[in-house]
Amino acid sequence: MTQSTFTPRVFSGIQPSGGLHLGNYLGAIKRFVTMQDEVAQSIYCMVDLHAITVWQDPKDLQHNTRELAAGFIASGISPEKSILINQSQVPEHAQLGWIFNCVARMGWMQRMTQFKDKAGKNAQNVSLGLFGYPALMAADILVYHATHVPVGDDQKQHLELTRDIATKFNHDYGVDFFPITEPVIEGAATRVMSLRDGDKKMSKSDPSDASRINMTDDADTIAKKIRKAKTDADALPSEAKGLEGRPEARNLVNIYAALADISVDQVLADVGGKNFGAFKPMLSDLAVAKLSPISGEMARLMSDPAEIDRILAKGAQQAREITVPILQKTYDIVGMVRPAV
Ligand code: AMP
Ligand code: TRP
Repeated sequence: MTQSTFTPRVFSGIQPSGGLHLGNYLGAIKRFVTMQDEVAQSIYCMVDLHAITVWQDPKDLQHNTRELAAGFIASGISPEKSILINQSQVPEHAQLGWIFNCVARMGWMQRMTQFKDKAGKNAQNVSLGLFGYPALMAADILVYHATHVPVGDDQKQHLELTRDIATKFNHDYGVDFFPITEPVIEGAATRVMSLRDGDKKMSKSDPSDASRINMTDDADTIAKKIRKAKTDADALPSEAKGLEGRPEARNLVNIYAALADISVDQVLADVGGKNFGAFKPMLSDLAVAKLSPISGEMARLMSDPAEIDRILAKGAQQAREITVPILQKTYDIVGMVRPAV
């Protein structure tokens, strides 16, 4: 990790909009687990306020927030080592988000590809919140003065915007108050692709369930989805450059490397020359071995939702020890009157 004058602090978030999949796990959560041991403080967040930028059934939102928390913990995020929160219990996120709505420029927001993808042809009919989403995301990060943000590749542009917002705020008010955050987009699986189409990202919004491996899939379902995954007819190459122009093959090899914690070259040194008929069972055995303990633990944690709620309440308390002073200082910088202390 690169150094800045700010104390290293990690923040990341995932939307509790249901359906954690292998892309979320390899691109994000697995990295969160390693990073919690690399810095003194890490904060991981269920971004429920972001989720409602598109319609969420209230009951489902509650369920999905708890299930995501269970997914984090089952994957190895320890509430003793990291602060685990849902965004709405830490009101300073939304409060700083408003300030950032007044810092970010319309032109910057109009360039956001995620907004354009999600709004599609429907841009007049989506919520204002969906458009403002990246300013709230900047606030999530900067209300902790977080320096490092592990995410999948699709969040890169939002993190650049976060840097632009911090830079403009610091410049406009003549301060060096917000850090210029480093995105951490690393590993073999920063962009896990659909099992049905190697040019499309694995996503919870893909109508085909066969396109993704859900964290809650059982062993048979995982094996079946991998068996049916699209591939080409050639054998696997022995070196990474042999994966060029073979998006499906590359994706399966990347997934294997990320699950096994080895490099793509190491995978190919072992499996080069094998055909998919031999490689796919190896991949499903590995996926089942890594994922089924996590889904088992998620189910166990979900049988005691009150315990999850206690963990999130405690996390919110710890979080506010950081966010309240940073928001107060921001208000002072901006010129908001508050009682003298
Ligand atoms: P979301 O589910 O969109 O809130 O994404 C949560 C996290 O998972 C973010 O850090 C994303 O970048 C990451 N992520 C989502 N889909 C993928 C994917 N297909 N490959 C890698 N990372 C992903
Ligand atoms: N936008 C992210 C996503 O869709 C979720 C998110 C919200 C986030 N706030 C964040 C990620 C802050 C990292 C840091 O995946």
